[in-house]
Formats: sequence, C-alpha cells, structure tokens
Amino acid sequence: MKVCIVGASGKLGRYMVRHALDRGHEVVGVCRAQSVQKLAEFAGRITIVPGATTDRVVIGKAVAGCDGVLTVLVPWGVQQYATGTAQAVLDLARPGARLVFSSGWHITRDGRDLYAWRLRLTVALFGPIARLFRFADLDDQVEACRRVFTSDTRWTVVRGSDLEEGESEGLPVWSRHVGDPVLASNRTRRVDFALFMVHALEDDALVGEAPAIVGCRTPSALAHGSAAAAPAGR
Ligand SMILES: NC(=O)c1ccc[n+]([C@@H]2O[C@H](COP(=O)([O-])OP(=O)(O)OC[C@H]3O[C@@H](n4cnc5c(N)ncnc54)[C@H](OP(=O)(O)O)[C@@H]3O)[C@@H](O)[C@H]2O)c1
Repeated sequence: MKVCIVGASGKLGRYMVRHALDRGHEVVGVCRAQSVQKLAEFAGRITIVPGATTDRVVIGKAVAGCDGVLTVLVPWGVQQYATGTAQAVLDLARPGARLVFSSGWHITRDGRDLYAWRLRLTVALFGPIARLFRFADLDDQVEACRRVFTSDTRWTVVRGSDLEEGESEGLPVWSRHVGDPVLASNRTRRVDFALFMVHALEDDALVGEAPAIVGCRTPSALAHGSAAAAPAGR
C-alpha cells in the first residue's frame, strides 16, 4: 500500500512511519520544512514532501497515487491549521482512499460521550487560555473533525486517550463512546496510538467510525474483555 503521513515529523507521526514501514507500506511523509531533519533516521526509505500541511499544492503532491492517508490533526496556532489540513486531505486524496485522522477524546461525533470532570475542566480552561495567547485553537480541531464526519470519504477519526511513552503493549481496544467502562483507565502508549492508526488503514470495520482507544493492557481494558482489537461498547 502507498501511504501518505501528514505530520510525519511529530512524535505520533514518527511512530506511524515506523509501523507503516514495518508493514511493508511505501511511505510519503509531509512535515514543515524546519522539521525535515527529525525524519533523518528514515533517510532513503521514505519520500519527504516538505511544507505546511495546509498548503494544497504540498498535500496534492504528497497524496498523489496514495491508497491511504494518515493525518495528525493538531490545534496549534490560530490560523485554522487543523481545518485547512483536513480539508486539503479530504479534497485531494484520490476517491476511495482510506483516510485516517488523529484527535483526542474531547472530539465527539454524536454528542453521546460522557466525560470525566477532569477532561471537561481541562478543555474549559485550556481552550480560552490557548486562544487568548494564540498558541492553539481547540475549536479548529472540532471543526476539522466535523468536516471529516460529514464528508463522503472512507474516513476514520481515531480519538486518543491520555498518552504515555513506553514499549508497545499491542493494539489498543476501542469503543464508540468515551464513558464506556472499557476506556476508564484513560491511558494509551503513544506507540500504540500510532499502531492503531496504521492498522485502521486495512480494517474496513473502522470506516465511518470515531473509535476512542485505550491501551489493551490497562486495567479497564483487561476487566472488560481486552482481546486486542475487539471493539467494545458497540
Ligand atoms: N498529547 C496528548 O496527550 C494527546 C492525547 C490524546 C490525543 N492526542 C492527539 O495526538 C495527536 C498528536 O499528538 P502528539 O502529542 O503525539 O503530538 P506530536 O506527535 O508531537 O504532533 C505534533 C504535530 O504538530 C505539528 N506542530 C507542532 N507545532 C505546530 C505549529 N505551531 N504549527 C503547525 N504544526 C505544528 C508537529 O510538526 P513539527 O514536527 O513540524 O513540529 C507535529 O506534526 C493529535 O491529533 C492530538 O490531538 C494527543
């Protein structure tokens, strides 16, 4: 499979590059020009298209001929970076391509997620402060995901729990709604978030889904039937 990774130089992005190469995929990575050196370990094994991920010329070039696109959606800045990135991918990826986007649990598809007070408080405080100091705009990530949800593409939005570093524990388990007991541990290894993103490319059961994920070795996953990749709460 030929796969484009938009946001390849970030922490999640580099894990995705590794997993995609391990699976034998041909990889094209997009990252900001100043971050190209962060992909030095993959020199000669991937194609890099440097540039802003909102630049439609850059995205058009990178996704050409790709069967799948993995996009890191981040709310950084106040220039609609997430929305511009998502729209470019939605518009320019070839029809029928698998499109997989990353986000956090704070994104809701149908309003039926039940959030713990800690996450509600974090969003309530971080959102206005981030916008005030112009370093992030959570609403931009919300709008980006709304556009993905309403598109007629073969999309998946993978919603990550709190993340931690460490060795892979295996493919995370998922559920449709935050608040489902299987997700209670609220912890996923970042390397496994990336594993789930790459796995989703070839799992048609995830088309049109916004899985909220949790580590498969966490207490809540183990307590509520943690067979790797088994969807919970469907
Ligand atoms: N961090 C968490 O705890 C957490 C929890 C749940 C879900 N998530 C989701 O996980 C995904 C990635 O999270 P991560 O923490 O692992 O981050 P990450 O991999 O470090 O990704 C950050 C990305 O944002 C880009 N970026 C950074 N500053 C930017 C700016 N000012 N303008 C444009 N792009 C900028 C980076 O590009 P450069 O390499 O060029 O800097 C990189 O591609 C996101 O979708 C996030 O919503 C994160």
